[in-house]
Amino acid sequence: MKKLLMLCFVLMVFVCCFAACGKKNETTPTPTEEATPTPTEEPTEEPTPTPTPEPPEAFLKDVFAEHGMKVGTCLTTQMIGSKTMSDFVLKHYNSVTMENDMKPDYILNKAKSVETGDIVVEFNKNMITMLDWAKENGVAVRGHTLVWYSQTPQWIFYDNFDDKTGNLVSREVMLKRMESYIKQVFEKLTEAGYADLFYAYDVVNEAWMENGTMRDQMNNWYKVIGDDYIWYAFSYAKKYAPSNIALFYNDYNEQFKTDTLEKFVKTLVDKDGNYLIDGIGFQAHLYTEDSLTSYFKTVDQLSALGLTIELTELDVCLGKYQAPQMANEANLAKQGRFYYDLIKGIFDRKDAGTLKIDSLTFWGITDSASWRKAYSPLLFASGYKKKPAFYGAVQLKDYAGFTE
Ligand code: GLA
Repeated sequence: MKKLLMLCFVLMVFVCCFAACGKKNETTPTPTEEATPTPTEEPTEEPTPTPTPEPPEAFLKDVFAEHGMKVGTCLTTQMIGSKTMSDFVLKHYNSVTMENDMKPDYILNKAKSVETGDIVVEFNKNMITMLDWAKENGVAVRGHTLVWYSQTPQWIFYDNFDDKTGNLVSREVMLKRMESYIKQVFEKLTEAGYADLFYAYDVVNEAWMENGTMRDQMNNWYKVIGDDYIWYAFSYAKKYAPSNIALFYNDYNEQFKTDTLEKFVKTLVDKDGNYLIDGIGFQAHLYTEDSLTSYFKTVDQLSALGLTIELTELDVCLGKYQAPQMANEANLAKQGRFYYDLIKGIFDRKDAGTLKIDSLTFWGITDSASWRKAYSPLLFASGYKKKPAFYGAVQLKDYAGFTE
């Protein structure tokens, strides 16, 4: 019995030692392992912050397509110069307007005009590159622009295409040149197989002033032809443009020119009273302090004319015209709300059938490349970083600055 007790005692001592050794091996971290932190007994005082959920993926062109609209950007060859950039454009936009390369300065050839005695249109390399890219990728194009006082070579208004003579040509000669110019643009687009890409064309740009008068300063179209130059531009465009291309009058400060534009558009008719014009382009170079109520009064008043409306160069600077602002968190949030409300107002009208609008074009993609870059007017910051403005545009209200 004594022997048995001794044996049991030895056995117990052995078992205890073994168990203690095993435990030690389990809990001692190896030098490379991190020690498991001791769990805190009491709950911490600070509430755990709720992580902001990642915004859902959204693409402009899908959102606009839900309302039967195209969405565009102005385009330069640099913007499609690499696959990454081109892919980015294609992900979000399905319409483009050339920022410069289709303007008169870029498509009229002086030497050939002098040589032939007629104004000569010649498409440039950049324009062709962009049209080929649009064709390859199924992107629609807005033509911009035919008759404009700015970015137009002055030699077209002078005898022998030579502005040094100081002799402006007669009204008759200028009308012939205008007709030839417009005819060549549409014929050459058709011959080169690009005409089908176009759905709209700005025939005349920026011809009216806020005080209701026609722009006469530095405007040789007006000076040489007279105040019916716009009517002629539209009647030539109507004569030569392929039927898939809608003809637009395009202007800025549209909210301050509403009555003027309404009155003027009614005069753009042929002898049977049919419109020579299909649509009004609202450039929409706006500010976050602008009144959207007043802007929509313009939209509603002009769309009542029965024409198509397009927003053609949308960008929204921070602040107001008299006092633009540099970016800060508060005004970027306000810009997000502005974009949300503006685009919602358009979608609501389009869905209700009270506004005939088929596209909206932003004047650029990233703030850093904008002509108004100091006041950050676009949807993306550098590196294509999405701003509240982007979320406003795609109608993701929770990320569009409403919670700031
Ligand atoms: C006007 C023109 C555009 C462009 C901007 C400034 O709005 O219509 O083509 O030149 O000015 O970038």
